[in-house]
Amino acid sequence: MSYATMHAEDVNTVNLSVYERIEHDIALKGISIVENALPMSTIAPLLARVASLPEYEFNDAGTGRKLDHQINQFVRRDQIHWLDPQHPSESLWFDWMNGLKTHLNRSLMLGLFSYESHFAQYQPGAFYKKHVDSFKGQANRRLSTVLYLNPNWQPQYGGELVVYNPTKDDEEYCRINPNFGTLVVFLSEDFPHEVLPASHLRYSIAGWYRINNSIFNQIDPPQ
Ligand code: OGA
Ligand code: MN
Repeated sequence: MSYATMHAEDVNTVNLSVYERIEHDIALKGISIVENALPMSTIAPLLARVASLPEYEFNDAGTGRKLDHQINQFVRRDQIHWLDPQHPSESLWFDWMNGLKTHLNRSLMLGLFSYESHFAQYQPGAFYKKHVDSFKGQANRRLSTVLYLNPNWQPQYGGELVVYNPTKDDEEYCRINPNFGTLVVFLSEDFPHEVLPASHLRYSIAGWYRINNSIFNQIDPPQ
């Protein structure tokens, strides 16, 4: 059996229950939190990769012109590096996320089209203030994902992801520790969230499934 075939089977069978669990959570609540969601063989290389990236491979998130940059520094202090499906240690990640896309499109008809994701490195003290990943009727990010890559993370380090209630956004919905292997998936427009500062270096992969606006407009024309 070739390596490619073995991996295809891995995605289609071994992970099916995780895909189904995410499907049910999204249908019911709009958010899913799964510990040890992906195979170790997929996430161990991701940690090795992000930990070995030299500083110059990271960019301050949302860099722009001077004023934009100052505003962005107020909102978020993480540093990012976009993942590349062609990179050997990142391709299994895209395979798994594509499998989830196919599953959710078939079961929930979400119309997910493309997937993009970046490593995020939060230095001690770095944060990302309360925000939504997509604004209603404007952007085309439909589903957000966050995977954590911090082995032996202790609760007292801080760095929680705080998720707020979709209808009462001053009310906390839940708090998630950035433990190695925990995957969070949620509807991008619905859940405001923030990253609290931590005392230790904190790694995550944030990603978004987009819908294709042009196709969406064609199949859903105003009557
Ligand atoms: C983001 C984000 C959360 C996290 O990058 O938009 O909300 O826990 N990240 O890293
Ligand atoms: Mn976000």
